[in-house]
Amino acid sequence: MALDQNKGVWKSGRGKGRRTPKGRQVEDHALAEIQALLGDRPRRRDLLIEHLHLIQDAKGHLSAAHIRALAEEMRMSMAEIYEVASFYAHFDVVKEDETPPPALTIRVCDSLSCELAGAEALKSALEVGMDPDQVRVLRAPCMGRCDTAPVLELGHHHIDHATPEKVQAAIAAGHTHADIPAYQDLAAYRAEGGYAQLMELRVSGDWEKVQETVLASGLRGLGGAGFPSGRKWGFVRANPGPRYLAVNGDEGEPGTFKDRYYLERTPHLMLEGMLIAAWAVEAETCFIYMRDEYPAVLHILAAEIAALEAAGIVEPGYIDLRRGAGAYICGEESAMIESIEGKRGMPRHRPPFVAEVGIFGQPTLVHNVETLHWVARVCREGPEILSRVEKNGRKGLRSYSVSGRVKNPGVHLLPAGSTITDIIAACGGMAEGHVFKAYQPGGPSSGLLPATIDDVPLDFDTLQPLGTFIGSAAVVVLSDRDSARDAALNMLRFFEDESCGQCTPCRVGCEKAVKLMQAETWDQPLLEELCVAMADASICGLGQAAPNPIRMVVKHFPDEL
Ligand SMILES: Cc1cc2nc3c(=O)[nH]c(=O)nc-3n(C[C@H](O)[C@H](O)[C@H](O)COP(=O)(O)O)c2cc1C
Ligand code: SF4
Ligand code: FES
Repeated sequence: MALDQNKGVWKSGRGKGRRTPKGRQVEDHALAEIQALLGDRPRRRDLLIEHLHLIQDAKGHLSAAHIRALAEEMRMSMAEIYEVASFYAHFDVVKEDETPPPALTIRVCDSLSCELAGAEALKSALEVGMDPDQVRVLRAPCMGRCDTAPVLELGHHHIDHATPEKVQAAIAAGHTHADIPAYQDLAAYRAEGGYAQLMELRVSGDWEKVQETVLASGLRGLGGAGFPSGRKWGFVRANPGPRYLAVNGDEGEPGTFKDRYYLERTPHLMLEGMLIAAWAVEAETCFIYMRDEYPAVLHILAAEIAALEAAGIVEPGYIDLRRGAGAYICGEESAMIESIEGKRGMPRHRPPFVAEVGIFGQPTLVHNVETLHWVARVCREGPEILSRVEKNGRKGLRSYSVSGRVKNPGVHLLPAGSTITDIIAACGGMAEGHVFKAYQPGGPSSGLLPATIDDVPLDFDTLQPLGTFIGSAAVVVLSDRDSARDAALNMLRFFEDESCGQCTPCRVGCEKAVKLMQAETWDQPLLEELCVAMADASICGLGQAAPNPIRMVVKHFPDEL
């Protein structure tokens, strides 16, 4: 019998064959929406996080239908997209049977300075006063505004010294967008000689001379590691191109807000420093990875990059601004690179170092925002601007982000040899009614020192003998009204939340430590065993430094345990 005389799959299509391809089907309307949102943007994999932001911003969440459509559009598997979207705190993945979040989100910072300023009570008051169908209240890590604690973010509007009344007023006024501060724009920066140095270098500069100038200034990496800044340039250049530059604007270490401080005032100092460093290593593209918690900075940078393009100072697309999505670990340089590539921010094993194998496997120069700010100033004003400042045997200047129980918290630019006594004095002394008890010298990774250790310069290399380090110079001052033990618990909670989970000593260690630290009496031998495992066997600095707050409370505040 001829095949086409039979009824069945061949003729009617009603046989046993599948009517659709295997797997979940892409819904036409979802695909159309995604295509409209993406427009003519490239469907490159490294842009995945940018595309997820477009959907989250437009729809308030990432539905299963939209993720399916995005997977189809980007020719990626859904699993890969889920994996990335669910890694980042600022994406709300909503499965088919789940209810999307309400239209408005309030994120209440509960990191140390905000906790000291009453974040817990603020969050509870907001939870009672809000309709959960309209507004959700979430806890969130440091927003880089610790000097105005307690802080929260309503949509993209940050409320400093937050109260429920301020929140109600902002909601009533529909004020959920970022306020853009007055800052020095391109015209104002050029009027005072900005970019003249870059132009000169591009015409007749010698990169090795510039590297020497930077080295002579004594500038060291201000992201926390303190690596001599100029020296990296030679390492990157030693590897064949194409090479890239990445600016680390993740600034997630609780208590740190210096990068935001500079970018909201003089963004072009960082941008010129970046372009000088990019010229020195012959970078093909400059990526700027900016944390999502800084919407005003993202706005300023987008506007000023466009101005640089319009002025012909950079080719369109030469500076690629990328928006983080709420993951502290993306401040670790290799995790940041993974994120720039559109992946989960999981630190890589080293070696190879990023100077050799960085973005897209190519040599990459990574610098902190403030480091580049100083590169521009050193090139314009000479290395002496840093090297001539001497105090307590230390050279240079440091931007201390100071918060907690001081009279005038904020960014204080002081000699790098400053002690905590100098820093508190620069802040106008302790807050009314508070007696100095302890301080965090450089973010939670640095733990806590007692007030009795008040004569050590807070600089690179000076704190190691005390089992700590200066890191990003995030100084939080505690008083007689605060508990060192509670502060350490706050720090470990932060690490527990922010561990990328890749390695067991850190993932499980942080969780167990938080449990043990909540007991009435600390099981000190068990905690120390845990600390050894975390410090010795974690892949990156997060897990390696997480034991510091525990060990320092055991050492300096045993009476609290
Ligand atoms: C857990 C962790 C978090 C980090 N977070 C940041 C950050 O937010 N910003 C930053 O510039 N560097 C951060 N760093 C340091 C970077 O890995 C890297 O050393 C730095 O960006 C290099 O730039 P620099 O030499 O100019 O400091 C972090 C490191 C670790 C281990
Ligand atoms: S130490 Fe923690 S944050 Fe770092 S790679 Fe391991 S699990 Fe991730
Ligand atoms: S903004 Fe809350 S601790 Fe930094």
